[in-house]
Amino acid sequence: MADEKIMIVEDEGIVILHIRKALESLGYRVAGAATSGEDAVAKASEIRPDLVLMDIVLKGRSDGIDAAEKIRELLNIPVIYLTSHADEGTLERAKATEPFGYIVKPMRERDLRIAIEFALYKAKTEEELRRARGNLERQVKEQTAELIKINEQLHDLTAHLHTVSEEERKRIAREIHDEMGQTLTALKFDLAWISDRYKDDESFSERKKSMMKLVDSAIFAVKRISADLRPDVLDHLGLSAAIEWYALEFSKRTDIACGVTFLPGEIVLDGTLSTAIFRIFQESLTNVARHAGATEVKACLELKDGKIMLSVEDNGRGISEGEIDDRQSFGLIGIRERVRAFNGELKISGVPNKGTTVEVSLPVAG
Ligand SMILES: Nc1ncnc2c1ncn2[C@@H]1O[C@H](COP(=O)(O)OP(=O)(O)OP(=O)(O)O)[C@@H](O)[C@H]1O
Ligand SMILES: [Mg+2]
Repeated sequence: MADEKIMIVEDEGIVILHIRKALESLGYRVAGAATSGEDAVAKASEIRPDLVLMDIVLKGRSDGIDAAEKIRELLNIPVIYLTSHADEGTLERAKATEPFGYIVKPMRERDLRIAIEFALYKAKTEEELRRARGNLERQVKEQTAELIKINEQLHDLTAHLHTVSEEERKRIAREIHDEMGQTLTALKFDLAWISDRYKDDESFSERKKSMMKLVDSAIFAVKRISADLRPDVLDHLGLSAAIEWYALEFSKRTDIACGVTFLPGEIVLDGTLSTAIFRIFQESLTNVARHAGATEVKACLELKDGKIMLSVEDNGRGISEGEIDDRQSFGLIGIRERVRAFNGELKISGVPNKGTTVEVSLPVAG
């Protein structure tokens, strides 16, 4: 036995009676009747039937269409149109409201049952679909929010690791420089003292020379290692001096010419920003030495319009799009993360056999 509540909207009392009888004999519950469009909307929102049978033409006007539209939109209740003398234009308008079926009056009980069963089935399926889509959308939304959160956490973690590693480098550089540097210098003095005492001993003189050489090269290595870890100039003389020093060291080490232009000549920035730019410069030059096969690098450091801009351009083989986007390109990912931490912009481009350019622009606070 069907248990659905059905509402009838019809302006002729005799027709209402006829439909009510037919519905009841089919086992449906008639939940009420309305005779005008306005009445229909009010009653439907009060009764909340499972289905509305709606006459298109009510009292000579096609009010049924407006009422059906409101009932669908506001209450999400399926509507079947009843029609006997609607013209083509009215039927077209009715069609546009996507009804759940039409029944032509006078109707047979069998047709009424089929139309109602079909409409209820369609409404149920639509509702299930709507619910499933809602669930899916909610899940996608939740998962997207979770992914965004994880992504943010990863960026924060990378920024934190950069800071921690910078601090650690500073500490190790200082320890190596101070501890080992001073010990080696003391050793050198002691060696000089001993050699003074045994200056007449020929065999010792040779040995002394080679020992002095070893101590000198150890002192030099200590300086180089500690400068590599954290260049002193960056902390004491500022960014321009550190970049200039590094470019010179790079040229000496690799035989690749490296010219840097500074605009203006002297650029002083806060510590973390200087460190970020310096590390990006360092990684870019290391990449030139390791991958580019270049003979020349031109770099420019410019402070303009509240931004610090660095460009490093080589004349090597040129980086490819695939290499730029590779998930294993950790050096470039490191550059990207540093730029992101400062809300800056990064552009990496390559032209085959012409070279690679890395351009960075970071806002300068204040
Ligand atoms: N200046 C360049 N010229 C040509 N190819 C480059 C240049 N810079 C980077 N590449 C290419 O892009 C890749 C990614 O560079 P990235 O710095 O991320 O990694 P890497 O230098 O190979 O390793 P590391 O993680 O130690 O830096 C390199 O392996 C290289 O193929
Ligand atoms: Mg690299």
